[in-house]
Amino acid sequence: MSNNTVTMEKLVSLCKRRGFIYQSSEIYGGLSGAWDYGPLGVELKNRIRDFWWKEMTQLHDNIVGIDAAIMMHPKVWEASGHVANFSDPMVDCRQCKSRFRADHIDLAAACPVCGTKGSFTEPREFNLMFSTHMGPVKDDASVVYLRPETAQGIFVNFKNVTQTSRVKIPFGIAQVGKAFRNEVTTKNFIFRTLEFEQMEMQFFVKPGDEDAWFAYWKQSRIDYYSRLGIDKNKLRFHQHGETELAHYAKDAFDIEFFFPMGWQELEGIHSRTDFDLSRHQEFSGKEQNYLDPETNERYIPYVIETSAGLTRSVLMVLSDAYEEEALDGGDSRVVMHFHPDVAPVTAAVLPLVKKDGIAELSREIEQELRSDFNTFYDQSGAIGRRYRRMDEIGTPFCITVDYQSKDDKTVTLRFRDSMEQVRVPIADLTARIRQEIKAYKRVE
Ligand code: GAP
Repeated sequence: MSNNTVTMEKLVSLCKRRGFIYQSSEIYGGLSGAWDYGPLGVELKNRIRDFWWKEMTQLHDNIVGIDAAIMMHPKVWEASGHVANFSDPMVDCRQCKSRFRADHIDLAAACPVCGTKGSFTEPREFNLMFSTHMGPVKDDASVVYLRPETAQGIFVNFKNVTQTSRVKIPFGIAQVGKAFRNEVTTKNFIFRTLEFEQMEMQFFVKPGDEDAWFAYWKQSRIDYYSRLGIDKNKLRFHQHGETELAHYAKDAFDIEFFFPMGWQELEGIHSRTDFDLSRHQEFSGKEQNYLDPETNERYIPYVIETSAGLTRSVLMVLSDAYEEEALDGGDSRVVMHFHPDVAPVTAAVLPLVKKDGIAELSREIEQELRSDFNTFYDQSGAIGRRYRRMDEIGTPFCITVDYQSKDDKTVTLRFRDSMEQVRVPIADLTARIRQEIKAYKRVE
């Protein structure tokens, strides 16, 4: 029997308690909309990033990666349309000075903070880009922006990549990195933050081929989440209506996930036409076209973009993995059903007793596993409690070492989801864990 009611409060509390995610600058009262990743959180985030990177670059022979600078020439953001268009309509309460997104509140109602009626200003456009100044002089000429999306780092390197690698259209360029937005509404933990990470891929295609590739990437991206072990029933598409389309998009679908606060965007798949490359050609004066080596045609490619939030994916993985499970005998456990490919710890080694060489043997086993897996060694406390700790941080495999291990060189391998235990020769452990990871299926 299980109770899968995951709430944001439960996740925030588990993340703090177990060292996944802390409030930023907590000792100073925190900074709203900013969060720090602790020892387990950074492992989880890095492993989700690596899973995506492998999916995009290693498992596709026509996608290469780059890592562009966060700060770019300010003209990039004029060309991309972000200076003119990347804004939200905002209203202020004249009474308490709180600021709200006009599309997030009922403008005819009272201010949700101070309760005053009729206190809202007219909506005004508020640009979401953070700006700073480069060099010692703080004037308009020295303004630089913190990138609000990683995509432009890819577009401005389109020519570099085609000239220096052997890619041919259709091909993609992938990038993972930080992006910054001066979001006014930042509730819901790490869902919407000022500083976040994106995993983006721009796929360059021949004009006319974009609809077929759009359909391909839509399917490929939703399938990816199943490979990551996410419950299919918590994923759906949402097509953007005319008023929702970003300034660069001709068509767009969001992949939405059922977060603790309801259905929300997780990833965007956008048909960006030749908007970005054409604009960069216009603003930079440098040609951004492609010469097809087979047909000798020259054209500016069209782009299909897949844009996923990495930090938002961490929230998705945490929400999807969480389970409160009632066990036989009135006991219960909190278990995180992370896919073993992204779990922060893959295998924990737990000696049943410390004496008679058992701890030393356990250390040896853990050392042996280290080169292949993220491991953890824990010899303190009752074994039941150690299992619960590992369940709560989502460790898929626990290895228990006992007196028998000394005699017959076997250990107990315990599976997190089923809690089943099997006896395995120490010499076979690495191969067995590998095999279990490959065969892993999420619990339904
Ligand atoms: N290059 C296209 C682009 O940036 P977007 O829909 O604005 O498109 C893509 O953002 C993804 O980035 C979103 O689906 C979300 O996962 C993530 N994202 C956007 N703003 C975010 C924020 N303030 N905090 C966390 N993640 C965010």
